[in-house]
Amino acid sequence: MTVDPLALKRIDHVRMFVGNARQSAYFYRNAFGFDVIAYAGLETGVRHEAAYVLRQGHITFVLASPLRPDHPEAHRLVQHGDGVQSIALEVEDVPAAFAAAVARGARPATPPRTIEDEHGAYDFAEIHAYGDTTHALVNRARYHGVFAPGFQPLDPDRYSPRTFHPVGLKAIDHIVANVEEGKMGDWVDYYSKIMGFSLLVSFDDKDISTEYSALMSKVVADGRGRIKFPINEPAHGRRKSQIEEYLEYYGGPGVQHIALATGNIIESVRAMAANDVSFLKVPQAYYERLPERVGTIREDLHELAELGILVDRDDEGYLLQIFTKPVEDRPTLFFEIIQRRGARSFGKGNFKALFEAIEHEQARRGTL
Ligand code: FE2
Repeated sequence: MTVDPLALKRIDHVRMFVGNARQSAYFYRNAFGFDVIAYAGLETGVRHEAAYVLRQGHITFVLASPLRPDHPEAHRLVQHGDGVQSIALEVEDVPAAFAAAVARGARPATPPRTIEDEHGAYDFAEIHAYGDTTHALVNRARYHGVFAPGFQPLDPDRYSPRTFHPVGLKAIDHIVANVEEGKMGDWVDYYSKIMGFSLLVSFDDKDISTEYSALMSKVVADGRGRIKFPINEPAHGRRKSQIEEYLEYYGGPGVQHIALATGNIIESVRAMAANDVSFLKVPQAYYERLPERVGTIREDLHELAELGILVDRDDEGYLLQIFTKPVEDRPTLFFEIIQRRGARSFGKGNFKALFEAIEHEQARRGTL
């Protein structure tokens, strides 16, 4: 049996295109607890953009900003504000994976290329996904530098010693897309047909609706369940749903949230809150009903209530989760912090309470 060239190994990194990568790096370092490990820019011989590589546990973010108005991606900043440009996936053989993806219907973005420097060879290609988000296909098996050619380990003098609270995030749990109304099925097909993902779970508007907001969601995952991509589309509610709000302010489909896994959500959230990260808060009544909803859990209920951490249970166990407010001025990208205690689901039992919290924020923004 031949191995599928699109057998994906893992999410290698998430590249965000931002207005001021230097300042974004400061935020993700000091608020989210990332280490800034590498830099590319004028000083390293890269003329068109500056980029910072941030690492925490197995999570790698690349924050990039154009240095000149003729950068080929510069329009993204006007269109989207800061946002996720690419979810990079590690594959065994980049040219074979790219050829297979295109043969199965993926729209090519960057043909395969091998980029070399004194540290080895880095293989890269890129296909289009929803909106103008892309999937980079990368292989760094023959590369021994800090990240990729053009990047150098960051001069530690560039940042002062960390004075903020360590956060302890470990891995990317899932990355969620918002797509246009009526398009969710097409993108489920894209991931099934091109990447061999299977449908893990789906929610319709009966599961996920409040008086105002409704959405439909399907979750696709790779065979080993390491890469999970929920895909949302708006459904009709009485007022504008959070997905419509996103599509309007992002200027099209894109990444809605990135869920980051921790082994101790109480410590992680306590540290992030101390670092001034703003989280969505549900009403205290949520915690009065919690014991009957989820049964016995190991965590202290008062501590969860104090921090605003949510809990949900499925057949396999339970999970704890919390959502940040959007991390930029546009009501677009936000983050989830999640700790799984056996559960492999996504917190369906929290949707209603959460949506009411989100709608409260939308009302404050005048976008409900
Ligand atoms: Fe999520």
